[in-house]
Amino acid sequence: MTNVSFLMDVLSVLAYLFIFALGLLVLAVIVLYVIDVSQTRHAIRRNYPVIGRFRYWFEEMGTFFRQYFFAMDREEMPFNRAERSWVYRAAKNLKNTVAFGSTRDLRTPGSVLFVNCSYPTLGEDAAPVSAVTIGPDCQHPYTAPSLFNISGMSYGALSRPAVRALSKGAAMAGCWMNTGEGGLSPYHLEGGADLVYQIGTAKYGVRDEQGKLCDRRLKAVAAHDQVKMFEIKLSQGAKPGKGGILPGAKVTEEVARIRGIAAGQDSISPNRHPDINSEDDLLDMIERIRRVTGKPVGIKLVVGHIGWMEKLCAAIERRGMASAPDFITVDSADGGTGAAPMSLIDYMGLPLRESLTQVVDVLSAHGLRQRIRVIASGKLITPAEVAWALCAGADFAVSARGFMFALGCIQALQCDKDTCPTGITTHNKKLQRGLVPEDKAERVKNYVENMQHEVGVIAHACGVAEPRQLNRSHARIVTGPGVSIPLEQFTPTNSNIQRA
Ligand SMILES: Cc1cc2nc3c(=O)[nH]c(=O)nc-3n(C[C@H](O)[C@H](O)[C@H](O)COP(=O)(O)O)c2cc1C
Repeated sequence: MTNVSFLMDVLSVLAYLFIFALGLLVLAVIVLYVIDVSQTRHAIRRNYPVIGRFRYWFEEMGTFFRQYFFAMDREEMPFNRAERSWVYRAAKNLKNTVAFGSTRDLRTPGSVLFVNCSYPTLGEDAAPVSAVTIGPDCQHPYTAPSLFNISGMSYGALSRPAVRALSKGAAMAGCWMNTGEGGLSPYHLEGGADLVYQIGTAKYGVRDEQGKLCDRRLKAVAAHDQVKMFEIKLSQGAKPGKGGILPGAKVTEEVARIRGIAAGQDSISPNRHPDINSEDDLLDMIERIRRVTGKPVGIKLVVGHIGWMEKLCAAIERRGMASAPDFITVDSADGGTGAAPMSLIDYMGLPLRESLTQVVDVLSAHGLRQRIRVIASGKLITPAEVAWALCAGADFAVSARGFMFALGCIQALQCDKDTCPTGITTHNKKLQRGLVPEDKAERVKNYVENMQHEVGVIAHACGVAEPRQLNRSHARIVTGPGVSIPLEQFTPTNSNIQRA
């Protein structure tokens, strides 16, 4: 009896609560209605009060619904599910085979096809990936063991645990990690990986009080044995001609110390190096950094007009081979970024598919192909993309977003907010908790190893002993439904590039 009356009491309390909640809801709808009809900024809310608000919510949530429920395997941008899945599985060291047949449309112009050999390389004839030396004439040349490496992403754009995981994973895999333009943090060093120190337009980490390059600080960075090379960033694929502003709130004591700027104040990166106005200025800067550090120095750029490369090569010929950059990183117009205007992301510069072969050809034409190593960058996250870059003439491939996927990135497209759900590009400690560096370092290592293994599989199917023997005769480009042409015809000069 008492149980029944207790139950009745609970039910009546719940009923009151329900009526109260319903009343609150009606009240909220009336308030929102009045707000919506009386505001003047949003036409949809004024014309369709309350209900019009769902539009904004659906627009926000649509990104997730599409990714999980509606988008086909090959549909999404910048990376589709098939590509991302390959990286996720490689990083977790899971079986990475697919069943039934290809879901890739082989008729789309620009698609790559590899030229298989009737007598593929036998297992016993396969050779390991050869190491390549960069800057052989430097005081401290760098012999890079891995053909697949981590592209520049600064500490600041990336969270602390993300940098930790990458540096540890890179050391385990034997690949290099580029610091990005935000300076050298203790987290880059702690994993023990080989590092490429990037010098951006603000010269963070190697600048004096006026923002000019400081030899003393440069020497101090070069004194770290782990720092193997220096890269002058002229431009980045996603945002050529764009500098940046780091708001004072983000310039913590630590960031200020690492970058060599004042804490708590806005920091502005110029949209180019103010002290590099010509090819000669650039070569002077390269020579200076090489002299001060004793280490190989290269440049990173996205190609706009290939005529500039011609001018650079002519200047090198005039000044002598020794003046050349030790490497050139060719970035793609469709490369990634922490944040950039859509006009630059979508429209500025040449995609790697077009620029890489052009750069290699210009270097070859000037007899500089063996002197200057070529690093390809931009959407090279799967073995086929990396193998294509090798066929086109690159010595190395680097990836930024591929390694973000290896760290667990779900392509939420929120790198410019502080809300990255996987803790990779946020400084929110709660979100960073999900990214455990030790666990993710293992994934970074697996990703590099599986990538190199499967690029090898492609190379062997093409009949060569190792990936760096791939050349333009091993790839074809689809030009229309059912029609493809050899890669060497696609860019007619120098079909077989000698690497060493
Ligand atoms: C979060 C993030 C931060 C980046 N920071 C830098 C940077 O500091 N310096 C730089 O040269 N490029 C930076 N990049 C660009 C990459 O190094 C690379 O050039 C570009 O993303 C190539 O495309 P990928 O992501 O497909 O490899 C960044 C990219 C991302 C996604």
